Amino acid sequence: MKKRLSGKKIAKNIYASIKEDIELNNISLKLVILLIGNDPAAEYYVQNLEKKGLKIGIEIKTIILDISIDQRLLLEKIDALNNDNKVNAIMLQKPLPNHLDESEIIMKINPNKDVDAFHPLNMGNLVLDKQGFLPATPAAVLELIKYYEIETNGKHIVIVGRSDIVGKPLANLLLRKSETGNATVTVCHSRTKDLSFHTKQADILIAAIGKPLFIKSDMIKDNTIIIDVGVNQIKDVEKGYRYVGDVDYEACFEKVSSITPVPGGIGTITTAMLLNNVLFAYKIQNKN
Ligand SMILES: NC(=O)c1ccc[n+]([C@@H]2O[C@H](COP(=O)([O-])OP(=O)(O)OC[C@H]3O[C@@H](n4cnc5c(N)ncnc54)[C@H](OP(=O)(O)O)[C@@H]3O)[C@@H](O)[C@H]2O)c1
Repeated sequence: MKKRLSGKKIAKNIYASIKEDIELNNISLKLVILLIGNDPAAEYYVQNLEKKGLKIGIEIKTIILDISIDQRLLLEKIDALNNDNKVNAIMLQKPLPNHLDESEIIMKINPNKDVDAFHPLNMGNLVLDKQGFLPATPAAVLELIKYYEIETNGKHIVIVGRSDIVGKPLANLLLRKSETGNATVTVCHSRTKDLSFHTKQADILIAAIGKPLFIKSDMIKDNTIIIDVGVNQIKDVEKGYRYVGDVDYEACFEKVSSITPVPGGIGTITTAMLLNNVLFAYKIQNKN
């Protein structure tokens, strides 16, 4: 296994496979993104998705909604997209403004178009090991594990972060009786006492915290494998800003067996897996 676990080749393979499937079966795929307000990071992510979609043959339409949109109007918009047969997939760009009831909005999205896998039905399928959408970031972690043949069977995997989109689904996937599962999983969070005690036990450490360079070399054991999910913007003297992970990559590099970079690691694969979910949506909608 390489020391630097790049996600670029993995993402490239996923895009090639989606494109091939679209061309071979001569299908049209459409993803609609609901973007509320004008958060620059969200806009950047969406623009990047649009570019990738265009390259592989997925139509992506972004609907920009006013930050003050009311709940009822947003639910009506989702209803219209649910009923539009040309729309295979709906993506709700988070975070949502505080006045909106996120849970009600997620429940409104047709589970068969829910490429983020936020709907409780999709989350339930994931936990019960039934076929369904996998959220893109946890799915990206599994793709990385597969590609680099990282052994998870019987290993102790420590995840720092328990969010609904990363930590929780990932913990469940790594517990599965599967090629990329069978791990003993510990999930840590902001109330965990003596975090370093736990992170030092990890054969594989997964960071999904949202705090730049938070995991330092004295928090890990020798020869651990680190998968850094974090993406944080920090100030940079030359460029103005740059992106770093939740792990202090430079400080940990010597000590680890291998580590994912940021950027160029999990985030790169995540975008590809999100578009792969659009293809999956088409397949479940056209099963018969
Ligand atoms: N690469 C990708 O494609 C991708 C996708 C999604 C997210 N991300 C990145 O991944 C990171 C996490 O995202 P998220 O959406 O999961 O974030 P989130 O919802 O804010 O969750 C962060 C988690 O970290 C925990 N945490 C915060 N401070 C901590 C501390 N001092 N010690 C231990 N745990 C702590 C929180 O604990 P509590 O639950 O107790 O608050 C929470 O469970 C962010 O950097 C985000 O940008 C990347």
